[in-house]
Amino acid sequence: MSLYSRIAGRGPNGFGYGSTAEEVTAGLSLAGKTILVTGCNSGLGLETMRVLALRGAHVIGTSRTAAKATEAGATVTGQTTGLACELSDPSSVRACVAAVKALGVTLDAIVANAGVMALPELTLAHGYEMQFFTNHVGHFMLVTGLRDALAADGRVVVVSSDAHRRAPREGIQFDNLDGAKGYVPWAAYGQSKIANLLFAKELARQFGGTKRTANALHPGVIKTNLARSMNPLVGVVFAVASPLALKSIPEGAATQCYLAVNPGAAGVSGEYFSHCNVAKCRADANDPALAKRLWQRTEEIVAALPG
Ligand SMILES: NC(=O)c1ccc[n+]([C@@H]2O[C@H](COP(=O)([O-])OP(=O)(O)OC[C@H]3O[C@@H](n4cnc5c(N)ncnc54)[C@H](OP(=O)(O)O)[C@@H]3O)[C@@H](O)[C@H]2O)c1
Repeated sequence: MSLYSRIAGRGPNGFGYGSTAEEVTAGLSLAGKTILVTGCNSGLGLETMRVLALRGAHVIGTSRTAAKATEAGATVTGQTTGLACELSDPSSVRACVAAVKALGVTLDAIVANAGVMALPELTLAHGYEMQFFTNHVGHFMLVTGLRDALAADGRVVVVSSDAHRRAPREGIQFDNLDGAKGYVPWAAYGQSKIANLLFAKELARQFGGTKRTANALHPGVIKTNLARSMNPLVGVVFAVASPLALKSIPEGAATQCYLAVNPGAAGVSGEYFSHCNVAKCRADANDPALAKRLWQRTEEIVAALPG
């Protein structure tokens, strides 16, 4: 817990900056629940899997490889199933969808957590900028592919970031999804994170009239492996800032665990959360027309992918 965590306030639901994943799930029995978490081998995903399994859920954890996911599952107490889901590889995502369906489970929540950040050089996946493809398109394929497996009151939790504010002025640069007209690492990360938000908003709109929900969130700023692509100096800054202002990993995983299982989030949909409470996102992340346009474009992208 950082110095700031000790003095930060709490939101309307009693949770806040310093709340941990264990705290927001305290007293809950998740026995009989099945929850899928992407990126389960590291950082916030590993902590999310650990705490949800601790509370009794069967956690289907995905990683780039089955071995990584299974190894991560073996480090936590409770029931886990490790599956491969390399989000930049459509055949891997499709195989993951098929593997989950073959398990015959009903998913009470999907936590779309995995992500890459601020790749220093333009990198492409299937002709699209890598962060857009991994963080948005890969999760779009996974979540829409598993829609039929979602419980009647199932929750989709999309891990976005306050860095969505760094997205280009137009939100999504539909004419530059390959980065050919220019690539700025943080703007590309921001674009992928505003895409996460728009995806959750449009999914929530589509869930209207049902008990299913979809929300996006900012977990806070936490020292994890996410900064691996950045200048090593950033690591030094993080090491200094961590005890003062950054969240710990248990604090960072709190908002996604709250949204996935806390009764206080039941029926709440189409919102952006930060520090376990509803927060304001950038104005255009609330634009239903932009969300719909991104959805349609993503469907076109997916339809044209190999395999
Ligand atoms: N940490 C922060 O301050 C912060 C702030 C705002 C938002 N977030 C968001 O929080 C989420 C979790 O990040 P984290 O901080 O826990 O980072 P992390 O420790 O780096 O974990 C990221 C996870 O995503 C996985 N991943 C990356 N690329 C993938 C791909 N192509 N296919 C499948 N899995 C892939 C990683 O797998 P490998 O280990 O195999 O690479 C890892 O399991 C991300 O969506 C991030 O954008 C984090």
